[in-house]
Amino acid sequence: MVKPEVKLSPSILAADFAHLETQAKEALDAGAEWLHIDVMDGHFVPNITMGPLVVKALQPLRRKAGAVLDVHLMIACPDQYIDAFAAAGSDIITVHVETCPNPEATLKHIRQSGARPGITLNPDTPLKTLAPLLPHVDVAMLMTVFPGFAGQVYLPGSNSRIRALRSMLDELPQSVHLEVDGGVKPHNALHAVEAGATVLVAGSAVFRGNIGANVAALRAAIAPVAQQDRATAS
Ligand code: DX5
Ligand code: ZN
Repeated sequence: MVKPEVKLSPSILAADFAHLETQAKEALDAGAEWLHIDVMDGHFVPNITMGPLVVKALQPLRRKAGAVLDVHLMIACPDQYIDAFAAAGSDIITVHVETCPNPEATLKHIRQSGARPGITLNPDTPLKTLAPLLPHVDVAMLMTVFPGFAGQVYLPGSNSRIRALRSMLDELPQSVHLEVDGGVKPHNALHAVEAGATVLVAGSAVFRGNIGANVAALRAAIAPVAQQDRATAS
């Protein structure tokens, strides 16, 4: 199977909300393809962030820049909100396996709503909980921090979980993105990609400091893998 190019998905949780559109545009102009939108409800995680209104507010930018809005729901009872997030213009809606009494039905609901379904899990949830769900998703996301806040440290042991999930995904007939979320920085991005990640979420590594330079630094960090792939293909 042809490996998809690695995408960068800057998490706007780490952006300055007073300048959200400008900062998101800066990240896209610098070469990021997706925008990661962290939705937290104060129940499933101990923090409250944003809802469908923010997804809707990003629609002009999504249209102009062709960005993929990558919505990560860290909320109890996600089923109640899927239609609202889809109607607001989410391209991908990712839910936590821990929050869904019937995850397969939730993933089908997401697809019916017109968005692409994603599944994710906390760092201490066994990977085998995802196995029966992978045929129903376009994105399988691994949390590499405990969800709730930007700016945490990439957990040790994450790369072996990426490798294990990559083997599970390689068994599937369809191509599924392996997204990694939490603590991604230039110094660990290459290892995550070498282990099998195809989408990297980065919050503080993009939005703290010079956004354009930060995106370029992440891209440069994973360039050795892109070069290797081109060499193998030629
Ligand atoms: C954590 C969120 C992550 C986080 C990423 O709950 O899901 O998307 O904001 O931010 P950094 O890259 O700073 O860990
Ligand atoms: Zn996230």
